[in-house]
Amino acid sequence: MLIKEKKLLWGLVIVISMLLCGVGTGYAAVSGVCSDCHTMHNSQGGEPMRDDGVEAPLSALLLNDCLGCHTTTGVDPFVGGYPYVQLASGATDDNCLAGGFFSTTMGMGNNDDNHHGIGNTSEPAGFDEIETTWYTGTSDGLGCAGTNGCHGNETDLDDMAAIKGGHHDPSAYRILYVGTDGVVGSGAKDYEDAIIDDPSTSVVTSGDDQNVNIYSAGVDDPSISELCAKCHGDFHNESGTTGDSGLASPWIRHPTDVAIPTTWEIGGTDYIPDGDDYKHNPVGYDDATFDITNKKATCLSCHRAHGTASNDLLRWGYSTQDAGSGDEYGCLGCHDAQR
Ligand code: HEC
Ligand code: HEC
Ligand code: HEC
Ligand code: HEC
Ligand code: HEC
Repeated sequence: MLIKEKKLLWGLVIVISMLLCGVGTGYAAVSGVCSDCHTMHNSQGGEPMRDDGVEAPLSALLLNDCLGCHTTTGVDPFVGGYPYVQLASGATDDNCLAGGFFSTTMGMGNNDDNHHGIGNTSEPAGFDEIETTWYTGTSDGLGCAGTNGCHGNETDLDDMAAIKGGHHDPSAYRILYVGTDGVVGSGAKDYEDAIIDDPSTSVVTSGDDQNVNIYSAGVDDPSISELCAKCHGDFHNESGTTGDSGLASPWIRHPTDVAIPTTWEIGGTDYIPDGDDYKHNPVGYDDATFDITNKKATCLSCHRAHGTASNDLLRWGYSTQDAGSGDEYGCLGCHDAQR
């Protein structure tokens, strides 16, 4: 074989194995010059470089912390590649990203606000103290990441240590883990900015133009609901949900990671969810693989992760039953027999 051909062959082998190993899984990495985000000494002309002007340097040599970078004074939740989870001008259910939004004043109620309160020391409702020994939020206050938060690992208290590498070389859906396994999922490139703004937008479930999140809801994958169960364990496992066999109707807590019966309209094997379904009642799939014949309920079918305008982070008001788009959403989005 000629040397040239050999090189070509090796090139192909490398490309194919990169594809097989999942290099470029589609999880987004940061771009831009280093100085946009990092400072080497937090000092320039004797003045601090940090965006908030504080002299003590931040971990990972950053100019900002999590909420510093992910909060905007503007009105658009997704600008210049930055996904914003807090809008100083006030976000709404129609102007936010898929994770929802944090209030501009963090709530300190005992599971009694409409968002996860950063700094809140209340125990998570449904806390399973036998399973969740690592959680330090009752003393450190709920944080973004690490032993007192939702993103990153369960071993480091420091936010940046907990998500180390997540922004440059992401290997888990939205930098989320259950134990050491990354949560499975496939994220909208615009964090659902377009669908939430206008649900009549055509849904794209894969590729560069993917505009909806495809959540995992399987028994084998670390599903998005298992992420919630890290802190709200009893709501997922204590005969509320599957994972073990033998759990079925009549339920004692609302199920998650269970299939929606195919006899229900949204569970129908020919029913393709549209933009309103993704906004008000998203379903999950085994291994986050889109499959209209096997749709499942997840925690996020009813809640958004960071917060919403409704009590309990719900996508719609529970007491009003109003999803803002007619009676085919909210609880009735799935339970069509009750419409
Ligand atoms: C858009 C913002 C942004 C830009 C631009 C950026 N970084 Fe980072 N970088 C981060 C954030 C946020 C973290 C900490 C969280 C993490 O590790 O995910 C980080 C962490 C790091 C780390 C420690 C984690 C690791 O991967 O080992 C290194 C090293 C690093 N950056 C180097 C660089 C270099 C070199 C550049 C320029 C080529 C650069 N960064 C550009 C945001 C950025
Ligand atoms: C220096 C600015 C900066 C800091 C600090 C920062 N982020 Fe980010 N973050 C970004 C940018 C820019 C993106 C969009 C690019 C990307 O997807 O990685 C992003 C993306 C993300 C994403 C979505 C990743 C994906 O799946 O597409 C998550 C989740 C996230 N950040 C969480 C955090 C958490 C948690 C912290 C603190 C521990 C943090 N960020 C700190 C700038 C920052
Ligand atoms: C790291 C632990 C942790 C994880 C993971 C977590 N939560 Fe929480 N959650 C808390 C804590 C602590 C509270 C109580 C403090 C508060 O209300 O902010 C809470 C409160 C809540 C509340 C009540 C909020 C209110 O104030 O009314 C809801 C609803 C909720 N979580 C849903 C979820 C969902 C859905 C997920 C998964 C996307 C999730 N949680 C993941 C820690 C967590
Ligand atoms: C994403 C779809 C979905 C949404 C939204 C949804 N449910 Fe369910 N619900 C299910 C599934 C799936 C089951 C389990 C059905 C089975 O056992 O086959 C279920 C079961 C139930 C049960 C138990 C029935 C039994 O047989 O034990 C009740 C009650 C219930 N849901 C009420 C509600 C209420 C109230 C809301 C709104 C707050 C709601 N559901 C929203 C999918 C959904
Ligand atoms: C079918 C819709 C639905 C699903 C699915 C669902 N929830 Fe809820 N959740 C609600 C409603 C409605 C409430 C309001 C309180 C109530 O009715 O129990 C609530 C309340 C909560 C609260 C606040 C409890 C308190 O004491 O204030 C937490 C925490 C919570 N849910 C977490 C979860 C987690 C974790 C999952 C997934 C394992 C989940 N939810 C799945 C509808 C749902």
